Parts: sequence; C-alpha cells; structure tokens
Amino acid sequence: MKRISEIKNSIYSVGVNARDVELFEGQFFVPLGMSYNSYVVRDNVNFVFDTVDATFADEWISNLQTVLGKEKPDYLVVQHMEPDHSGSIEKFFEVYPETKIVGNAKTFAMLDQFFGKDIAKNRIVVVDGQTIESENHTFTFVFAPFVHWPEVMLTYDAKTKTLFSADAFGKFGAVDFDDEWTCEARRYYFGIVGKYGMQVQNLLKKATDLEIETICPLHGPVLTDNIDYYIDKYKVWSNYDVESEGVVIAYASVYGNTEKAVDYLKDKLTEYGCEKVVIQNLARTDIHEAIEDAFRYGKLVLASITYNGDIFPSMRSFIEGLIERGYKKRTIATIENGSWAPTANKVMKNAFANSKDIVFTENNVTIRSAMTDENKRVLDALAKELLQ
Ligand code: FEO
Repeated sequence: MKRISEIKNSIYSVGVNARDVELFEGQFFVPLGMSYNSYVVRDNVNFVFDTVDATFADEWISNLQTVLGKEKPDYLVVQHMEPDHSGSIEKFFEVYPETKIVGNAKTFAMLDQFFGKDIAKNRIVVVDGQTIESENHTFTFVFAPFVHWPEVMLTYDAKTKTLFSADAFGKFGAVDFDDEWTCEARRYYFGIVGKYGMQVQNLLKKATDLEIETICPLHGPVLTDNIDYYIDKYKVWSNYDVESEGVVIAYASVYGNTEKAVDYLKDKLTEYGCEKVVIQNLARTDIHEAIEDAFRYGKLVLASITYNGDIFPSMRSFIEGLIERGYKKRTIATIENGSWAPTANKVMKNAFANSKDIVFTENNVTIRSAMTDENKRVLDALAKELLQ
C-alpha cells in the first residue's frame, strides 16, 4: 500500500506500510503490522531522510519518484543504520548514484560493514550540532547514541520546527490502522530502547532547547498535536518511573494450583480497593506485553512453580527481559509452588540482586502442591501489604 502525503512545508512522508508483517525484528508480535517511515523534503535541493527495509525497496523507490517527479534527491540523510531503515540504501544508489550521503563517522563505518566501501562515493561526514541549509530549511544533526544504536542521530529543522526523530517516538503498527499511540509506543519503547534509559534522558535534555511542533519518527504516525504529551511519556519511561498505579501479577502455572493462588490474590486486591490488577499468564501471553506492564506499574508479583530446581522457563525469560532492560524502582512479591523442594522464591529474588531500588515484600508465599488456608492467610496479608 502506498503512503505518500505532504506533512507540511514540502516535507513528505514516503515510507511504506507493512500491514502483513507479523513479527518485527524476529521477536515482537505486531498484529497491526509495521510502518517503515521515510521522508522527502523538497526545496532548492532535495533531501531524503532514511530508506526502508529491503523487502519494500521497490515500493519505496516508487514513492520517492512520485514525490520527486523528474528531480533527483541531492542528499540522503542516514540517521540510523539498522537494516529496517538502511536496507534499501543499495537500491537507492542504483537509482540515484550521484546523491550525497550524510551521516556521522559511526554511520559510515557501519555502511562499509553492511554494503562494502564502494557504495556511495559522495559522503558528507557530520559532527554533533552541524548544520546543512537549504533555502527554506536549516537541518541540525543531533547525535543520540544508543537510541537505539551507537550511530543514531536525529535531525532538527529549525525553520519548520520539525524533529526527524529516528527510532525515538516510534510505535508498532502500520499507520493506516487508526489505533492510539500510547499502548504500542510503550511496548515498542520498552521492547527496543528500554535498556537505554540514560541515553534517552540525554537526548531529552538536548531536546529541551528545541521548539518542536512536529515529530517525524521512523515508525508510526507523524506527531503534530500536544507534543509535550509524547515527550512527557518518554521522560517517565526513560527515568524508569511508575507511570500508572496498579499491581501486575505475572505467573507460570502448569496444573493450575499456582494459578488458583494468583486468582485468590487478585480477588483480595480488588476487595481491598486496588483499582488496577493486571494478570499475565507467561505461558500464554506475548512476553513483551508482560514486560511493558511490569515497567508501567509500580508493583509486581511473580508466581512460579519450581521447575528442575529452578523456575519455569517462561518466568526465567520474563525476568531476564526485565533485568536486561534495567528494571528498577519497583516493589516485588514472590509466590512459589513446589511439591517437594520449593526454590522458586529464592531464585526469583536472587535474579534481581544487581537491580537498583527494588523492594521485596515481607509477605511471600510458599505453596506445596495445592493452596492451603495458611497460604490464603499470607496471600491476604500480601494483598494488604501491596496496597499500603
Ligand atoms: Fe527501527 Fe533501531 O530500528
């Protein structure tokens, strides 16, 4: 499906909507597909911002030609070398071999690694804060290492107050599906950039000085209204702050006995006034939905059977997913089940040994095969403790 539109001031969206993509980066389920954005700026000289995944190279080149007509792009700005954005560079230079390519030193090191040194002879190596001007645009390059790769840079056009934001502010989903931004932007953020909170904070500090009216990310919709809303969300997420009040219970149960304890705890939390209890069955859910919830809410209950003297594999993957993304500033409770040697609580707690600002609850639950009245008493106390 073609997706060409003028955003403003001869800035065009020329990316592709991949509605049929089901799995992004080989691990993220994207039920609404994915968009790979690219932008053309027409002026006395023409700029292209980023290419698209190689799968869609022909469609994208056709979009470029529709917008440019008989003119040619003078500059290809490469903000990010991950192949979902750089994958069509080779095709681009087959069609437009004379175009100057703009990147930083790290961009070009990766360009050579991916495509060899012979691609793109006309190279402009920029430094942080450098500017390239055309008649109606002033593009300043803002380096943003590790948002999401080390070479990433954003571009700010002071004349139109537009920020070309690379991966930042992106979301899952093709843009012709009209779903709201926050939910899939949050799952995208914590899935892909979550580990790099400090680097995102550094970028946000730089952005404080910019007057931004339009954000053009490389995934998801162009953002135009209420820009502060999106920036505030990124401030909360990158600072690992609690976004919403509530309790997440993530569990792994094989025969249903651990699940019964989860249900009991949920009922008690609700009875005692907890307005939001999120249940994630780790054997069934998209793990990145569960990770997103764990970062969104302030309290997390982990309930796992003991398995091979350890914890259930889906619980292990979930906890690893949290830790590798810098999980912190949260309260954690544990529930274990083991018919002869329950060890899951210890394993789950030890997994967070190097995580910062984690508070473990005093009440934790050990079930031996099936829930007892004593287990119910401790679950009741845990519910109260979580709501203190
Ligand atoms: Fe959308 Fe880091 O690539």
